[in-house]
Amino acid sequence: MPVIIINEKLCIKCNTCVTVCVTKIIDNHSVSGYPEISDEKSGFCIKCGHCESFCPQKALTLNFLLDDKMDITASEGRIESQNLSLYIKKRRSVRHFSSETVSKELITKVLDVTRYAASGGNSQPVKWLVIFEPSIVQQVACLTIDWMRTILNTSHPLAPYVPVLISAWDNGTDLISHRAPHLLFAHVPAEPINDPTEAIIALTHFDIAAPSFGIGTCWAGFVIMALENYKPLQDFLCLPEGRKAACPMLFGYSKYTITSVPRRNPVDITWR
Ligand SMILES: Cc1cc2nc3c(=O)[nH]c(=O)nc-3n(C[C@H](O)[C@H](O)[C@H](O)COP(=O)(O)O)c2cc1C
Repeated sequence: MPVIIINEKLCIKCNTCVTVCVTKIIDNHSVSGYPEISDEKSGFCIKCGHCESFCPQKALTLNFLLDDKMDITASEGRIESQNLSLYIKKRRSVRHFSSETVSKELITKVLDVTRYAASGGNSQPVKWLVIFEPSIVQQVACLTIDWMRTILNTSHPLAPYVPVLISAWDNGTDLISHRAPHLLFAHVPAEPINDPTEAIIALTHFDIAAPSFGIGTCWAGFVIMALENYKPLQDFLCLPEGRKAACPMLFGYSKYTITSVPRRNPVDITWR
């Protein structure tokens, strides 16, 4: 099966595909001059799709998931920088959720966007665990508090802060999950050379895309601390063997809308 399919009626042999190919496996056929990938080199294709995406003639098709091919014009999907800047500045952690759940269909739509996140060698290692049931999110929060009880009066760096969190929980205020209806885990292979970078990138895509679908998010830092240290939570979540999760993300519909952008420290840049 060829790795790339060339429409010779459209190809003008401009060599853009040869230039943009990240693994440099596209050559020009010695006689016809059309781009081709030899059998020896085909195994090095990472299916990043750049050859196809940058072809000015739309003459090249990567022979992979053909039904998923999506053509766009240069202007489609463009967002004015001013709007995008404002959109990003408007993103806020949501800690007050309505009890309304987000439909699985809409969650899937947002997660679909994350498929286009960067990954080393286009490895796309991220898989998702969506805690969809609000009652299970509550159980995760409860187990996080249980873990916090185990570090009370220890030298754990979080120990000075846990009494407040535990006492709030015991008095009916959930500062762990903020009573969010859903909790999202991204996980990647837990190989020694792998940190969960790709999971964090994918989650960040979710974080940024979600508000455009009307969904609010909040990173759940306490939950990942508990997950990394507390076997009962590990057993409860039961992530697939050999996989490592990044900091999970709470999400749902926000009770409030923001009316101004908070101030931030000035950007700190070193130029060399
Ligand atoms: C890795 C990480 C972990 C976080 N963990 C929590 C958390 O456990 N609980 C919480 O309420 N907010 C958590 N946050 C949200 C931060 O408090 C929040 O991003 C910060 O205060 C800035 O506010 P903003 O997100 O609205 O800009 C976390 C954020 C990050 C990036």
